[in-house]
Amino acid sequence: MSVISNHTNNMKMVDKQLISVVIILLCCVHFHVQSSHDVEDGISRSQFPEGFLFGTSSSSYQIEGAPFEDGKGLSNWDVFSHTPGKINNDENGDIADDHYHRYLEDIELMSSLGVNVYRFSISWSRILPRGIYGDINPRGIMIYNKIIDNLLLRGIEPFVTIHHSDLPHELEERYGGWISPLIQVKYWTTINEPNLVVESAYMRGIHPPGHCSPPFGNCYTGNSDVEPLIAMHNMLLSHAKAVKLYRKHFQAKQGGSIGIVAHAFMYEPLRDEECDRQAVNRTLAFGLPWVIDPLVFGEYPAEMHSILGSQLPRFSLRENNLIKGSLDFIGINHYGTLYAKDCSLSACPFGADHPISGFVETTGTRDGIPIGDQTGMLELFVVPKGMEKIVDYIKIRYHNMPVYITENGYSSPLKADVTMHDLLQDFKRIDYHKAYLAALLRAIRKGADVRGYMIWSLLDNFEWTHGYETRFGLYYVDRHTLERIPKLSVQWFSSFLNNTGHTNKRENLGEQHLGSKNVRNVGFNFI
Ligand code: FCB
Repeated sequence: MSVISNHTNNMKMVDKQLISVVIILLCCVHFHVQSSHDVEDGISRSQFPEGFLFGTSSSSYQIEGAPFEDGKGLSNWDVFSHTPGKINNDENGDIADDHYHRYLEDIELMSSLGVNVYRFSISWSRILPRGIYGDINPRGIMIYNKIIDNLLLRGIEPFVTIHHSDLPHELEERYGGWISPLIQVKYWTTINEPNLVVESAYMRGIHPPGHCSPPFGNCYTGNSDVEPLIAMHNMLLSHAKAVKLYRKHFQAKQGGSIGIVAHAFMYEPLRDEECDRQAVNRTLAFGLPWVIDPLVFGEYPAEMHSILGSQLPRFSLRENNLIKGSLDFIGINHYGTLYAKDCSLSACPFGADHPISGFVETTGTRDGIPIGDQTGMLELFVVPKGMEKIVDYIKIRYHNMPVYITENGYSSPLKADVTMHDLLQDFKRIDYHKAYLAALLRAIRKGADVRGYMIWSLLDNFEWTHGYETRFGLYYVDRHTLERIPKLSVQWFSSFLNNTGHTNKRENLGEQHLGSKNVRNVGFNFI
């Protein structure tokens, strides 16, 4: 930091400062089954507040491909996904959606949908290919400049995540440049889902660097009870440093805003008992508030303090001043709702009875009955009411701070005999989005300051350890030709965004005509 703070008068160096901080940031590194009333056909764009942002969401590693192009260096995910046994079918993001070469086509798809925002992330190994050992790669910046320019040309606001899971493999500390089109970005988030990152990478060990300890998982190295706390602490401080520099040097000029994105499940008590209602409160607090409380109030959640005590890293007075208030808005990725069961009085598996889990076990089923419709991701169930509840919770806890729904999406259930035709006729995805939007609208009508909603995702893409089988896209991507083929949800979203309304009803959505393609068996493998 001290190296950086010597150059405050030189714009170029100021630009470098922001990047430096970003780089350091990178281093630190109801019970309710869906009922028919949840599916609301009358939902329309015009019911949302004026200026509301609607769009789609993505991340660099999941869509770009081109791992070595134009000077890009190796990222942690390039290495991890090439480690045998780590990813479903040993797939990787080498090609992904080939967005790197097809971004113009993809921006056209977004433009024809009628969105006014696009959330994407910057691959830092394109910009700083070798971390501390090399130079900034201008060709890496150029691609994002082109994407931003083309979005702006079509009236689509870029909404940029600085760190969405991938970071340069060799990265320790770097500095760089910051050139004009990036400066036009008004919506910034520093880190995507620190709470899920620390859980996946340092507690369960299923994402790079693959740290964990029993009974949370089987890894070569790590300590699941401690490392997630440390990693979160460093991520929060890094976020706050980036925000401080952004506010000092850029915010006024850009009129932009900066936030962070937390993953947020909603929970319901597994049993109709006080201990499980308390478990709901605890597991909620150990989720989004673990990230957001320090950035708003300067302290970890009281619920965490009371369980973890001195195990929780402390913020010094100076750090407390730095982090408190270091947020203009909260980004939330909300997909589903789970049951919560108390583990303070009984033993639970996989570390759920450890303090770091808040003594809570979460599950999607009660007596074998799922909490909502099962999706293609085992831990995600369709419970639209959860959207209303989580937004209510955030509204109350953070005194109605502005919120963007930075991700919400549906992955089609995995079936061994699924055909492309099934995947394209994605009525369930349409029902999902309509019901979740209706729930969001209810929360907004009760006063929640929600300003945007972004669907995960425009395209089927590389879904981390699930590889390509798990498909969240509005567009089907043919893995052989990389052709983008609209699912029915494209018709629905486009009609919703353009307020035409009529295709909001299921009977008005036309079948996709695919010729022989519609009978192809996609052939899922189950592990
Ligand atoms: C979120 C991640 C995103 C994608 C979706 C399905 O947790 O932020 O990259 O994997 O889940």
